[in-house]
Amino acid sequence: MATTQSLPPLIAVFFLSAAVIEFASGRLIVEKQNISVISPKSIKGRYEAAMANFGVPNYGGSLTGVVVYPEKGHTACAAFDGVRFRSKSKRPVILLVDRGRCYFALKAYNGQQAGAAAVIVADNVDEPLLTMDAPGFKLQDVIDRNNNEFIEKINIPSTLVTKEFGDELKAAVAKAGDEEVVIKMDWTESVPNPDRRVEYEFWTNSNDECGERCDEQLEFVRNFRGNAQLLEKGGFARFTPHYITWYCPEPLRQSLQCQAQCINHGRYCSPDPERNIWAGYTGKDILVENLRQICVHRVANETGRPWVWWDYVTDFSIRCSMKEKKYTKHCAERVVTSLGLSLDNVLKCMGNTEDDVENEVLKREQELRLGHGSRGDVAILPTLVINDVQYRGKLERTAVLKAICAGFEESTEPPVCLNPDIETNECLESNGGCWYDLQLNITACKDTFRGRICECPVVNNVQLSGDGYNSCTAVGPGRCAIDSGGCWSGTKDGRTFSACQDRDLNSCKCPSGFRGNGSDCKDVDECKEKLACNCPECSCRNTWGGYDCKCQGNLLYINSQDTCIARSESKFGWSLSFIALALVVSAAVGAYIFYKYRFRSYMDSEIMAIMSQYMPLDNHQKEMTQPLRENTLE
Ligand SMILES: *[C@@H]1O[C@H](CO)[C@@H](O)[C@H](O)[C@H]1NC(C)=O
Ligand SMILES: *[C@@H]1O[C@H](CO)[C@@H](O)[C@H](O)[C@H]1NC(C)=O
Ligand SMILES: *[C@@H]1O[C@H](CO)[C@@H](O)[C@H](O)[C@H]1NC(C)=O
Ligand SMILES: *[C@@H]1O[C@H](CO)[C@@H](O)[C@H](O)[C@H]1NC(C)=O
Repeated sequence: MATTQSLPPLIAVFFLSAAVIEFASGRLIVEKQNISVISPKSIKGRYEAAMANFGVPNYGGSLTGVVVYPEKGHTACAAFDGVRFRSKSKRPVILLVDRGRCYFALKAYNGQQAGAAAVIVADNVDEPLLTMDAPGFKLQDVIDRNNNEFIEKINIPSTLVTKEFGDELKAAVAKAGDEEVVIKMDWTESVPNPDRRVEYEFWTNSNDECGERCDEQLEFVRNFRGNAQLLEKGGFARFTPHYITWYCPEPLRQSLQCQAQCINHGRYCSPDPERNIWAGYTGKDILVENLRQICVHRVANETGRPWVWWDYVTDFSIRCSMKEKKYTKHCAERVVTSLGLSLDNVLKCMGNTEDDVENEVLKREQELRLGHGSRGDVAILPTLVINDVQYRGKLERTAVLKAICAGFEESTEPPVCLNPDIETNECLESNGGCWYDLQLNITACKDTFRGRICECPVVNNVQLSGDGYNSCTAVGPGRCAIDSGGCWSGTKDGRTFSACQDRDLNSCKCPSGFRGNGSDCKDVDECKEKLACNCPECSCRNTWGGYDCKCQGNLLYINSQDTCIARSESKFGWSLSFIALALVVSAAVGAYIFYKYRFRSYMDSEIMAIMSQYMPLDNHQKEMTQPLRENTLE
């Protein structure tokens, strides 16, 4: 089975392809993840597993599910025709299958088709964990590339466990009966997150004619470009492209094979794309273009625009494709210039490829290829390394973005990580176990790439606060409009009372007529407690939020005095005062009219007396007095 352990075939393949170029073999690291058994108690604990190199690992998140071991087809090499695996508790199914007989990836695919949320492969021999690869992954794999379309369709995670742990799980499943075997697969530590910037590198090649692998790389670069540029422009990530080179052993440097596949006198080589040095493009052509692409990144980085590399690679693959026989220096240089990069600087960076000297740029790539720290040697193409850990899973935009996003500490991830298209859909089912309010149809569940989080939402501009699991209550202004601000509220007989008061920003107080702590209010029975309606003639009836007091006979209840008074007496008293008032008013009006009349006569005669001293009054009397009267009296 394909594993990353075997390097010698690499050399063999190039022997076949008529060249002897080597590749220093070295350290390989198996990326691990934790699996915790939650139940049964007998095997409870944490176990190690090795992430597969295909599918979509849930980077930054976890998956809790029920282990199912198929009754038929333990190896999952054949499709589970029509079978849909289910768990009694409706939790996701994690299918446990045995290693052997077919490709790891095929097992994962068959499991996925039968409804599994993840596939665990149990090793069939006692040995250390190894990485499950997809067929045709490595450069040296010369297996059929036609029948593996299913690999791209795998979108669940897969992992390998040791034979020992696999046996324990199988035994537990067999014994479990009604109790289910529940495990949690954890990828939260799969990418370290030491700081607020993710460093990642992509080991690739410029060749576009190596079949599925090359198509996959190009497709990835095209699709991921937007995200990569956003991350880098925002200062959230630093990306560096890398290219693998081989070398020609000293005694063979003058051979035709090495001359066709190497530059700088056999120091740096790349395998022939068609595995035939006499036809088509040579390894040398590829190597020179790889070198140019490294230099494009360097020059772009020097001008503060490292992300232009993504544009260059995309444009180059479209404009200068090998398939269309346009993979030329001339075409490449046109792309360089069209992107506003200095061609001179690119050429200076590339150096002279014919000289018998080291090329600083490629020498550095060879050094970097060797593993260090938590990263093993880069031995396969393409390889993506995120925060110094090799990425496992398929090379696909959202899967990779998820892994990069896992390289940020929770809550420091950039907005691109919270994009809906890399979210999980855990909230769809029972609100992900978070708080929810059926009446308002709101939940604290939020899908993110890490899986769901329970965070109290904002409703009508009011931020709810609480733990997000058991409670979310509105605080601050406007809170009473939302679910009574978490306070008690009740409706009965068409009347609603609430313990929420907007002027009081975060406490609850039962309204009058109710008693309680504000989270719970009970109607006060004013009658029973003799709080009102205590007069001897009254009869009391409790109501929701108040009481109804009636007096016997014709008496009228006076609330403020809690007493009954005679209805007729008050009627009579009232009419008496009305009559008295009417008398007073008419007297006043009469007095006023009398006074006004007297005063006017007096004034008229006074004025006339004064004026008559100056002019004859016979004709003018009327005209002269009219305006004066108006101005002074009316
Ligand atoms: C497994 O869990 C332990 C304890 O939480 C942690 O220290 C370790 O890094 C985890 N390993 C992986 C590969 O996630
Ligand atoms: C890109 O530039 C930065 C500083 O501007 C530098 O630290 C970094 O090493 C450069 N990267 C490469 C690959 O040259
Ligand atoms: C609740 O809200 C969601 C969207 O927010 C909507 O899809 C759903 O139909 C609503 N349910 C009810 C019962 O109103
Ligand atoms: C309020 O009282 C009810 C019952 O009287 C009780 O269940 C609840 O826990 C109390 N809440 C607080 C916040 O004291």
